[in-house]
Amino acid sequence: MTQPNYNYIAVITDQHVIEPGAKLYGLDTNGSAKRAFDSLAQERLPQAVVTLGDLADTTLEPDRTKAVGSRASYELAKALASEISAPILTIPGNHDDPKLMDEVFPNQWKSRKDGVSTFSFHGVDLISVDVRTGPEATGKIAPKTIEALEEALSRSTGAFIFSHFPLVELDNERINTGLSTTNREALSSIFERYRDRIAHCFSGHLHIWASATVKGIPVTAVPSASFSFSLEPLSAERESVTNTPCGYLLVGIGDDGSVVIRPRFLPGVER
Ligand SMILES: [Fe+2]
Repeated sequence: MTQPNYNYIAVITDQHVIEPGAKLYGLDTNGSAKRAFDSLAQERLPQAVVTLGDLADTTLEPDRTKAVGSRASYELAKALASEISAPILTIPGNHDDPKLMDEVFPNQWKSRKDGVSTFSFHGVDLISVDVRTGPEATGKIAPKTIEALEEALSRSTGAFIFSHFPLVELDNERINTGLSTTNREALSSIFERYRDRIAHCFSGHLHIWASATVKGIPVTAVPSASFSFSLEPLSAERESVTNTPCGYLLVGIGDDGSVVIRPRFLPGVER
């Protein structure tokens, strides 16, 4: 049997880089983000890095529902990522300012339309979905974005989908009611129709490690590179910061359709 040839991407999320010297919830997220970027810069395998959002954040805005990364936050993130040679494909999270992020991290996606970006990678399509309506990262996917996703999938023979908020139902009420894409049922017919073309879905935002299969599609919740939350099943409690290791994923994409995920663990923020 011949071994398939694998090409790798790295998937990283929720670094929450803030203004130099600041702390978020009392946590040194700049320190943990630095360790993650330093580790990523040492990796030989990834040919592209997909960052799923909340790359930056801020301590200048006390209202957490409005807090988005400042220029100083993005500039620090850029400096921390400066040794990474692979292209960095960004997706805005609820704590990102998409315009500022684009200014500091110029767009590396090959096409971008109505919240859907694509990048062709050794015969498969990396497709990102911006789960927001208008300027707000509401977790609500806009109708034009659903249409653009369907269009991208109709042209693809093998797709990897990336988003900040999860796009599917998971095993926890708190996730499903408050931390996921709110109108995800609008995506369910797309997932049913194109399930043979969707190799894997990756999302951020939850700050947990989780793998699932939904409608036959493998789904991975990517842990934060900076701090982990406890979000256990059957619990509607608010998330809390835990000592669970942080990390990011290397994803090997085989030329026969195989996928291998290699987790890279990081200590996460010092508490
Ligand atoms: Fe988030």
